Amino acid sequence: MSEGAREVLVGGCDLAGLAAEYGTPLYAYDEDGLRNTCREFLSAFRAQWPRAEVAYACKAFAVGAMIRLALSEGLRLDVASAGELDLATAAGAAGDAITFHGCYKTVADLDAAVRAQVGHVVIDSLGEIDDLIAVAARLNRTQQVLIRINPEVDVRTDARYRVGGADSKFGLPIGDGSARQAAERVLASPWLRLDGVHFHLGSQIMTAEPYIEAIERTARFVADLRSRHSWAPRRVILGGGMGVGYDPGQVVPAPRQWAADLGGAFRDRLAPLCATRPVLGIEPGRAVVADHGVIAYTAGVVKRQAGRLLAEGDDPLEPPRPGRVLIVVDGGLSDNPRPLMYSARHQVRNASAGVRAAAQARPRTDAITADAVTADAITADIYGRHCETDLLFSDVALPDIRRGDVLAVLTAGAYTHCMASNYNRFYRPAVVFAANGASRLVLRRETSSDLLRCEQPPRLGAAQEAAREVAV
Ligand SMILES: Cc1ncc(COP(=O)(O)O)c(C=O)c1O
Repeated sequence: MSEGAREVLVGGCDLAGLAAEYGTPLYAYDEDGLRNTCREFLSAFRAQWPRAEVAYACKAFAVGAMIRLALSEGLRLDVASAGELDLATAAGAAGDAITFHGCYKTVADLDAAVRAQVGHVVIDSLGEIDDLIAVAARLNRTQQVLIRINPEVDVRTDARYRVGGADSKFGLPIGDGSARQAAERVLASPWLRLDGVHFHLGSQIMTAEPYIEAIERTARFVADLRSRHSWAPRRVILGGGMGVGYDPGQVVPAPRQWAADLGGAFRDRLAPLCATRPVLGIEPGRAVVADHGVIAYTAGVVKRQAGRLLAEGDDPLEPPRPGRVLIVVDGGLSDNPRPLMYSARHQVRNASAGVRAAAQARPRTDAITADAVTADAITADIYGRHCETDLLFSDVALPDIRRGDVLAVLTAGAYTHCMASNYNRFYRPAVVFAANGASRLVLRRETSSDLLRCEQPPRLGAAQEAAREVAV
C-alpha cells in the first residue's frame, strides 16, 4: 500500500479504480509487498541461523492465492484446523510442509492431519496424545510431533492477544509438570516421534524481551528433559506474534531486528542443548500480511452528526462538536470484526478525495447537502451497516467526504477476511491481488446461491411452493 499524490495505491493500482472494477467492500492486497515480507523474514532468520524456517500462520489470511504465494517464497505453513489443512493441500502444499495446530483437536482433525501426512502435529493437551496415538495406530502411520509448551511468560500486549500466561487455554505449562509429562508420554509411544518443542506467546508483540524470556525457560525445560532421557530437540519453534503498526508513526521491529534478537538468543541459549544442527522456526501471520492489505468501502450514508455517542470520560454536557460527520459504509462487523472484538484501530483515508482533487472537479465550499459534506477538513465517525451499533472508527480526520466516496481502511490484511461472517446475510467480499499497476481477482464475492447452498431441502423456494400447494 502506498499513497500517491493523494490517492491510495495498492500494488500500483488506484484503490478507487479497483473499487469501481470489483465493487465494494473489497479486500485489496499488494502482491509484491506480501512477497517482500515473506522474503525478508526468511532471509533475515537464515542469515542468523542457516537452518531457520518460516511458516506462514495462514489463519491470518487464508486464501489459496496467499498460500501459493507463501509456498513459492519458500515458507512452510501453520494450519489450525482441518479446514485450513484442506485449503493448504488444495493450494498445493506438501504434507510435510505443514504444521497442524489447535488447542482442541477432535479425533476427526487428528485423522485428517495424519492422513495428510503433515510434517508435525503440535500437541496442545495431555488427552490429545492418547487420541493421536489411537489415530496413528489405526492408520498404521508414525506421526512426528512437537510439544506446545507454555513457558508462562506474560507479554505486554492487549489481554485479548495474550496466550502464554499461566492460565492460558493453550499449550502445556512447564511449571506444573504437564509439559514434561506430555514429552514423556510421546517418547514412550512407538506411534509418535518427538521432534521438538514449540511456544507461541500471543499477538501484537512489540519487543523481543518476552521471546528471550521464553527461550530462557524453554532452555531450562529442555535441559531438565535431557538429563532424564536421551532425547534432545531437533526443532524449536518460537511461534508468531510479531506486531504491526496500526497507529500513525508507530515503530515496529523489522524482520531483521526480530531475527537478530530471537536468532541470537536461540543460538546462545537453546541450540547448545539441541540435537546437531537443529531447526529454528517462527510462524508469523499478522506481520506477513497486515501491512499489505486494504479494505475498500463505499460511504453510503453521510450526514452531519446532531449529537455524539458518549465514550468513557466524555462530558455529557459538551455540545456536539461542529463539523462532525457520521458515515455509514457498505460493510463493517461482518468483513472486519476486529474494531468490535479488539477495539482495533485502523487508519482511514478517503480514496476518492485524492482522485477528485487531482481532477480539480470539486468547488471547495463548506456546504452540506443531504448526501455530501465538504469542508477543508472534517472529523468523522464511521459505522458499518449492520443491525448493531457497529461503530468501526471514531474521530477519523478526512479531507472531505461525499456520498459514494471510497474509503480505504489501511493495515487491514490480517484477521479480516478470515474472520468474516455472513451476519445479516451479507455476502463476503471479493479479494484482489495487485502488482505493477495490474490487478487480478483471487477470490470472488459470495452470491446468494453460496449462502443458500447448505439449506435443506436444497431448493428452499421449491419447498415453499410445495408447502403452499399442500395447504391449498
Ligand atoms: C500457534 C500460533 N502460531 C502463530 C500464530 C500467528 O500469530 P500472529 O498472527 O500474531 O503472528 C498464532 C495466532 O493465533 C498461533 O496461535
